[in-house]
Amino acid sequence: MMRRRQQPPLTADLGLWGCAVNDAGHLELDGYDLVEVARDHGTPTHVASKRRLLDNCERVSSVFGAALHDCEVFYSYKTNCVPGLLRLIHDQGIGAEVISPYELWLAIELGLPGRRIIYNGPHKSKESLGLAIGNDLKLINADSMSDLMAIAEVCRTIGRSANIGLRLCPRRGWNAQFGFQMHNGEAAAGLRFIAENEAVLKLKGIHLHLGSQIGDRSVFGHALDEALAFMSETGAMADGRIEYLDLGGGYPVPTVRDVGGLERRICRLLGRPWAPPRPGSLPNLSDVAAIMAATLRRYTDGMARPPTVIVEPGRAITSGAQILLLAVRALKPRAPPIAILDGGKMNITVPTSFEFHHVLAANRMREPSLRNYRLVGRTCTPSDLVYDAVRLPELSEGDVLAVMDAGAYFTSFSSDFAYPRPPVLLADAGSVTVLRDRESFVGIAARDRVDSSPARPAVVA
Ligand SMILES: Cc1ncc(COP(=O)(O)O)c(C=O)c1O
Repeated sequence: MMRRRQQPPLTADLGLWGCAVNDAGHLELDGYDLVEVARDHGTPTHVASKRRLLDNCERVSSVFGAALHDCEVFYSYKTNCVPGLLRLIHDQGIGAEVISPYELWLAIELGLPGRRIIYNGPHKSKESLGLAIGNDLKLINADSMSDLMAIAEVCRTIGRSANIGLRLCPRRGWNAQFGFQMHNGEAAAGLRFIAENEAVLKLKGIHLHLGSQIGDRSVFGHALDEALAFMSETGAMADGRIEYLDLGGGYPVPTVRDVGGLERRICRLLGRPWAPPRPGSLPNLSDVAAIMAATLRRYTDGMARPPTVIVEPGRAITSGAQILLLAVRALKPRAPPIAILDGGKMNITVPTSFEFHHVLAANRMREPSLRNYRLVGRTCTPSDLVYDAVRLPELSEGDVLAVMDAGAYFTSFSSDFAYPRPPVLLADAGSVTVLRDRESFVGIAARDRVDSSPARPAVVA
């Protein structure tokens, strides 16, 4: 008989998420039994930890603050745009990095003044530019010549000027799609356009953003070096000319791993679970901040007024501060067994298409992981998986699974494909509160019209 390889229950990393195992063998977050939370609030449900979120804000601010001469932090809204979480993040002195008219509107609604907002994105509507310029945003980072022309036009129409950052596109990191390339004259043309329109376009800085969950630490140094060398050659880096170096986000968390297409195919073929990141294999925040600081020193040493560094973390702040709870709704005794969950990647777990996330059996934390399960969603779509193979304890219907690191790109990517979107709860000392309600059927249909009268579909359980 084939011997099944036993895997001990995961306990080592639980502290990274503010979690522990209680006497009942259940997963706890900040002292809350997540199995009870699932029972009380239903599944699927997101649970965020206030303590974890504030710790992450403090860690990001202090690590970058200590390594860099002068540093300001702006949280990337698209990572997780739940207003209750944004308010907590802003209360820690962190600003808003927005990439759409909606996100810009939301930051202003949340009471942020323009100097605490940065507006990015490959296309910015004229209406949103009017709002951005009218609110005197800290930076509007231009992505293309069309973007610069639109900003200049709106400035002239409303009789105001704009604080401009030029998004540069280095050879390392995400390339080609975003910003101005330096090797082919695009960036130089952008600088010329800004100079020709200096009455309305005030060049304040440059912007880089190199990717997300960046695993190769050398990317940060090389890209920054290319950008600073270019700016020095053009004379734009001269002492006092540039106020801000906006270095974007992309700072990885230690418990998530990008899994490439080839590895995904091989694992699928062999029925093998994706491997977690090796401890220490991903750069930590201090590594990245040190690399940035060393690169910067080469260009700014001796300056009387070195530029302020801006960072735009998303994942580093929210990823590990939120857990997604899903329940096992049905089991099929196949090889491997299939567990049908109340959420999958068609609507809730989109990042599990390409990222490794730990999945824990929240009510069986002391049981050994014996079997590979195929975890699927319930939307009648073959690609509605969570994962092809995850090693877990023997499962039963009603078990609660916790998808860890659900705080980055889960809520923002989720859709109402066939099912309402889950609520977002906040675990705080003494209470679990609701930051976002579970979507209702009426909520899904709220924008729809039948025969020009408002649609009011019956609620079918
Ligand atoms: C311009 C910009 N800044 C910041 C971020 C945040 O990235 P991350 O969540 O990897 O830190 C993103 C996300 O891709 C982005 O596009």
